[in-house]
Amino acid sequence: MRVLVTGGAGFIGAHIVTALTERGHEPVVLDALLPTAHPGPPDLPGAEMVLADVRDAEAVRAALRGVDAVCHQAAMVGLGKDFADAPAYVGCNDLGTAVLLAGMAKAGVNRLVLAGSMVVYGEGRYDCPRDGVVRPGPRAVADLEAGRFEPLCPVCGAELVPGLVDEDAPVEPRNVYATTKLTQEHLAAAWARSTGGHAVSLRYHNVYGPGMPRDTPYAGVASFFRSSLARGEAPRVFEDGAQRRDFVHVRDVAAANAVALEAAGGRAAGSFTAYNTGSGEPHTIGEMASALSAARSGPEPVVTGEFRLGDVRHVTADSARLRRELGWLPRVGFAEGMAEFARAQQRASSGVR
Ligand SMILES: NC(=O)c1ccc[n+]([C@@H]2O[C@H](COP(=O)([O-])OP(=O)(O)OC[C@H]3O[C@@H](n4cnc5c(N)ncnc54)[C@H](O)[C@@H]3O)[C@@H](O)[C@H]2O)c1
Ligand SMILES: [Zn+2]
Repeated sequence: MRVLVTGGAGFIGAHIVTALTERGHEPVVLDALLPTAHPGPPDLPGAEMVLADVRDAEAVRAALRGVDAVCHQAAMVGLGKDFADAPAYVGCNDLGTAVLLAGMAKAGVNRLVLAGSMVVYGEGRYDCPRDGVVRPGPRAVADLEAGRFEPLCPVCGAELVPGLVDEDAPVEPRNVYATTKLTQEHLAAAWARSTGGHAVSLRYHNVYGPGMPRDTPYAGVASFFRSSLARGEAPRVFEDGAQRRDFVHVRDVAAANAVALEAAGGRAAGSFTAYNTGSGEPHTIGEMASALSAARSGPEPVVTGEFRLGDVRHVTADSARLRRELGWLPRVGFAEGMAEFARAQQRASSGVR
């Protein structure tokens, strides 16, 4: 298959290009090399590359020529600096997706795999011993400032037990980035319905691994820890470090994209399906920081009690649907993956940010 990989010069996109090539496909990359994602000279993908923005309809039209499927990774990621970033997020992520889908509709390209995200769920799943599954709202600043990080049952105030979210859990995007990731899915579903196309969203959990960008306001927490250790400093762990996440290795995410692209043609016309893409092995942020420190023989992490308002407390995935329907299996375990990541190259940075 000839596959257009948007965002293919990015962290995950570059691994997808490698995976597709290894499986005998022909990837072609479209990437704008955003300065927020590439503060230094970018590592260019080992594939045909179109330097263009997904919002450029003419460039998209040209790039889609001869393409069988699209793997849409291009997006602005992270929480950003402040609300002033909102138009840039919505522009790249949602207008960009709309322009891409319109181009696909016109060109008759009917397979799409979208980089989704677990941020669409907001808080993960929680069980109250009395009230069953409940949905705690955003945490109050006063609670966070007082070090009360665990959300309580919104009905009876009891302590809750965090569980695994499945794809049918209600969505509740809690920040601009999350809102744009959910809108991308809604656009993809609308495109599939109206064109008879096949759309899949892989809702990635916390992706980590070689090539992850260094710490910018747009990077993930694993990057922050890794960059601190590279400077010889202790990783600074926010809240009390007990936030639960699912850390999934970037090579496993790339493989999920490949199998989803290959399977897309076999699905019902007009369908949209979301798949959680996680390791299935929940860990805490504190455990990740400790694993990275240990692997580099660096300073022990420091738990700071700081917090970021847009963050949720716990969110971990049930990725059974992806394993069952597409036969995907994560291969890189937590200990092995973190040990490798602790020593791996991060994406080049000019140091200007
Ligand atoms: N890293 C994670 O943990 C994670 C988790 C969930 C979802 N995702 C999603 O995975 C995808 C890839 O993320 P990543 O971590 O590799 O980020 P990244 O920033 O490394 O890669 C994104 C790439 O997209 C490009 N890009 C952005 N906007 C563009 C535009 N308008 N036109 C053309 N190119 C554009 C950037 O230049 C960059 O090369 C994103 O859609 C992101 O939302 C990532
Ligand atoms: Zn309760």
